[in-house]
Amino acid sequence: MKTILVTGGCGFIGSNFVRWQLATYPDVSVINVDKLTYAGNLENLADLEGNPRYQFAKGDICDREFIDRTLALRPIDAVINFAAESHVDRSILDSGPFIQTNIVGTQVLLDACRKANIPRYVQVSTDEVYGSLGSDGFFTEETPLAPNSPYSASKTAADLLVRAYFHTFHFPVITTRCSNNYGPYQFPEKLIPLFISNLLNDQQVPVYGAGTNVRDWIHVIDHCRGIDAALRRGTPGEVYNFGGHSELQNIELTKKLLDALKKPHSLIKYVTDRAGHDFRYAIDTSKAERELGWRPQVTFEEGLTDTIEWYLGHRDWVDRIKSGAYRDYYQTQYGQRLS
Ligand code: NAD
Ligand code: DAU
Repeated sequence: MKTILVTGGCGFIGSNFVRWQLATYPDVSVINVDKLTYAGNLENLADLEGNPRYQFAKGDICDREFIDRTLALRPIDAVINFAAESHVDRSILDSGPFIQTNIVGTQVLLDACRKANIPRYVQVSTDEVYGSLGSDGFFTEETPLAPNSPYSASKTAADLLVRAYFHTFHFPVITTRCSNNYGPYQFPEKLIPLFISNLLNDQQVPVYGAGTNVRDWIHVIDHCRGIDAALRRGTPGEVYNFGGHSELQNIELTKKLLDALKKPHSLIKYVTDRAGHDFRYAIDTSKAERELGWRPQVTFEEGLTDTIEWYLGHRDWVDRIKSGAYRDYYQTQYGQRLS
């Protein structure tokens, strides 16, 4: 594996993956294709500027000519598709960009990669394609697909295209499905970075419904290790689930954040529930453990402590994001202006 093209490398998981990949494999070069939407931030990889093994190409995965040109830059051993519209709440406000990037973008990328004879393609998907669990049980790779939000429906459509390209064209695809990531560089619209950044400004944290919904939290670097294991050791046509074995109710997590930041529990504000809110996600990771030799390594306690430290040390990064269109989004989503 010499040259990897990633899409969406200026977002949260993509930027962590690119940095980790270059640090882990001295012989690997990365081309990063990113449209720089609201969630894409060149600052996330500013430390790689000037690195001869890193190249950035600004562009849209829906733009076939641009993708063809970029794939022709030099021989590419693998493509990893991180690029997506990723936030469930935004997909409820407007599903259009989700259909475009997540479905059409994946189809354009698959066609372009097939034509360019790319030897390996990894689709970074989500456990949300499986729908919602009750209070027990786990998602396996065999769980029927049953997406509930426009976001997860668009990711499921992409997964089905990926599956079809393997069956129809024998195009060597691998799909990964992971639970909720947390860690540095996560855009402050998702629960953990949103709540940390609000609390650092002594602002309330909006907990949806009763706060009893459950998510399985995984540190982003454990997810990156999983994607890398699937890339290098996965079998074409297969799906691999990743999770952190760290299930928490949202309210339990919120209280952990308040306590870690020494803030009063009176900052909890229960707000109207998310429409169609999936109750619980939990992952059976035995296939990835058995076939890829992967398992999560970061405990939730150490990962959360490090993440809080990162946000404390990067208040400028958060403030720059929060100064722009983010304020309008916050007003629309939460009916409240950020002070
Ligand atoms: P993110 O929103 O932080 O980043 C998405 C990136 O994709 C941004 O840099 C954005 O500019 C780029 N992008 C968006 N549309 C594009 C387009 N049309 N062309 C090129 N680039 C485009 O997302 P994330 O949280 O880092 O998620 C990355 C991937 O992982 C997504 O596919 C998501 O569905 C999946 N995933 C995320 C999680 C999670 O917990 N965040 C869990 C499982 C899977
Ligand atoms: O499971 C993987 C998925 O995890 C990824 O595919 C998505 O890209 C990623 O955004 C994430 O989706 P969630 O909807 O689970 O993450 P989010 O951080 O938005 O919400 C986590 C939980 O917290 C969820 O139950 C909703 C709740 N929540 C969220 C926000 C933003 C609140 O209670 N209040 C909030 O303000």
